[in-house]
Amino acid sequence: MGKKIAIWNESGSVGKTTTVVNLACALAKRGERVRVVGLDPQCDAEYYLGIGSTPRHTGDMLVERTVIGEDGERTKVLYTIAECEVPVGIRVANPHAEEYDPTAAEWLSRITVVPAGADLYDDQVALDQDPLGGTRLREAFEEAEQNGDEDKVITLFDCPGSKSVFTINVLYALDPKDGDRVVTCTPPDWKGTGGLGKMQKTLNEVNRRTRRTEKNLLDIDAVVPCRVPPSNRGKFFQNRLADLKQDDSPWAAKVAPRIREAVVVPESFWQQEPLLIYVPDEPVTADYLALLDWLDERGVTK
Ligand SMILES: Nc1ncnc2c1ncn2[C@@H]1O[C@H](COP(=O)(O)OP(=O)(O)OP(=O)(O)O)[C@@H](O)[C@H]1O
Ligand SMILES: [Mg+2]
Repeated sequence: MGKKIAIWNESGSVGKTTTVVNLACALAKRGERVRVVGLDPQCDAEYYLGIGSTPRHTGDMLVERTVIGEDGERTKVLYTIAECEVPVGIRVANPHAEEYDPTAAEWLSRITVVPAGADLYDDQVALDQDPLGGTRLREAFEEAEQNGDEDKVITLFDCPGSKSVFTINVLYALDPKDGDRVVTCTPPDWKGTGGLGKMQKTLNEVNRRTRRTEKNLLDIDAVVPCRVPPSNRGKFFQNRLADLKQDDSPWAAKVAPRIREAVVVPESFWQQEPLLIYVPDEPVTADYLALLDWLDERGVTK
């Protein structure tokens, strides 16, 4: 059975997509098969991974489409994960790069993407009106698992920065007893850390509705501090990070090693080259590798 990991925060611009893409690369580089599922109509993860518009997207697994057959007959279909999935290939986009990792093509070939599409804005309306709209993603994964396609694939969900039917779909699709996990990203500020309590409420509600037993409750398994300024700057941010780690904080044991703030991060996004390709030797790239080690130790990615 494959492992599913939600990279989730109900707040926007906290580092989710950056974490999804760079963790996906770190996992693929060490030999894992990784699938990124985009659920954000902004399509940032897809842009970052160099994927343009695709014939199908995540919404095709969630909302029925009408297909007209050769005989003119109309049928309703929900597409499968496999029908929506696309491979990631290397793009040499940066003309200023001096040298590329010669192994990149090999390890990038282990990443596939079920891409988000801008149509997801419309699909959200349809899903909101569908009484089973919260469980469509779970059904798509159950079907793939029955087909035996899921073994040893690690799926990372790039959630939108809001509480929406898409994030509910992701949370319903996770099952902690199968090793599925929830990771959240947050800059050390009021908005990000304040949002953790709201997210806990959402999880409690999902746990209640899915009638999970005490031993199988969804929980926030890791809090990744993102965009953390250096300690000689931004005392406010350092203090918020310290608050998060304090003994009386409910998150203290969950706080992962921090991802530092670095201008190469937005650069690598705009250049459509994940950090391991764009700047393999920068400290922030090492931060993502250290994050993966920490997540492995906690059983989140292993
Ligand atoms: N460590 C970092 N240092 C500097 N900038 C960063 C860092 N991490 C992320 N950013 C930048 O912060 C912005 C938000 O990051 P990102 O898109 O990953 O957040 P998000 O939570 O996915 O946002 P959204 O809710 O819009 O999907 C982006 O411009 C990104 O390049
Ligand atoms: Mg994003």
